Amino acid sequence: MTQARSDSDTTALPATLASYQRAAREGLARDIAAYFLEGAGQQSTLQRNLADLEAIRLRPRVLRDLRGGGTGLSLLGQRLAHPILAAPMAYMSLLHPDGEAALAAAVTAQGGGMVLSAQASQPMEAVRTHGEGCEWFQLYWQVTPEATLALANRAASAGFSALVLTVDAPVNGVRDAEIEAGFALPPQLRAVNLDGMPTPRLAPLDDGESLLFDRVAHLLPTWEDVAWLCKNAPLPVLLKGILDPEDAHAGIGAGAAGIIVSNHGGRALDGALSSITALPDIVARVEGAVPVLMDGGIRRGVDVLKALALGATAVLVGRPLVHGLAVAGAQGASHVLRLLRDELEVAMALTGCATLKDITRDRVVLPAGISPS
Ligand SMILES: Cc1cc2nc3c(=O)[nH]c(=O)nc-3n(C[C@H](O)[C@H](O)[C@H](O)COP(=O)(O)O)c2cc1C
Repeated sequence: MTQARSDSDTTALPATLASYQRAAREGLARDIAAYFLEGAGQQSTLQRNLADLEAIRLRPRVLRDLRGGGTGLSLLGQRLAHPILAAPMAYMSLLHPDGEAALAAAVTAQGGGMVLSAQASQPMEAVRTHGEGCEWFQLYWQVTPEATLALANRAASAGFSALVLTVDAPVNGVRDAEIEAGFALPPQLRAVNLDGMPTPRLAPLDDGESLLFDRVAHLLPTWEDVAWLCKNAPLPVLLKGILDPEDAHAGIGAGAAGIIVSNHGGRALDGALSSITALPDIVARVEGAVPVLMDGGIRRGVDVLKALALGATAVLVGRPLVHGLAVAGAQGASHVLRLLRDELEVAMALTGCATLKDITRDRVVLPAGISPS
């Protein structure tokens, strides 16, 4: 890895988002790259996230007045300098020794937001002291309501302002690339924030028994659990991993404060539709009741603009921050966010949008397959 840079030597950093991606690919060990950069199965969903965004065309407007414009917004009470949040990602210390704290510092330096993963490798309280911009905490259902609520309460005490309940990965996707590369967590690394959480001990399977349906299914959360958490948690709860408009509707009915359209970056169900394809129908179904965010495949500023044009309030990015952190720690992640924001500004200027509210549906031309609603 190219981590031996002095923090002040910005000229040594990659100059573009694409060069960060290349440098990360080249520098990461094969098994670590498989974990962070690849997806499930034959990676069709991972690829579609990218290809479907790419297939959307932008329709420029010229000679519009851009004075007084900007990329700022307010999201669930948090003031953000731009609409590009850091997506929750597990085990960031595998990429850089400073791990999630480095990412939180980078995000905060850029005036942005971050969702800390429940599977972070550092304690949530410590991460927040390195970057107050990291205001949201992601969690999975923790087997029992009590355990899930205890984790939510801890996040509230640590100063987080919202919870993101991830609902699209009750079981892990089939991650061929990781299996083939022999990826395994090193013994010194674990999801420290989940220490003490219940982990069911499963008896050996009898012949013909299904691990999932016979042993695990009764431990998995349902809509009733989501409604219970929304009612009892001390913080607003967003649902992450929604691809169907009816699930978005059910989420709002259960009390969710926001919907995050996501297919887990292509790491869960290979073959799932791309997030950008799912977005317009979900926005239409939600009818402005709560903010709709989106992640999956955002790699450039123009991608952010496309998602906002299709109704997203903000986007989250995963892999681009993997690239930045892997190549140059906090400085690299911060630089990647700056590049994304700069590119968004250029895209806004060239489509005649002074503010995020000006990024409307008529700025994009959709290919067949993405519903025009
Ligand atoms: C290495 C890695 C780890 C992830 N860990 C989590 C996680 O712990 N919780 C979660 O909700 N999503 C997790 N995700 C999914 C991201 O939050 C996000 O949905 C996805 O990365 C967005 O796609 P992108 O990488 O194309 O931007 C992870 C993604 C990656 C790449």
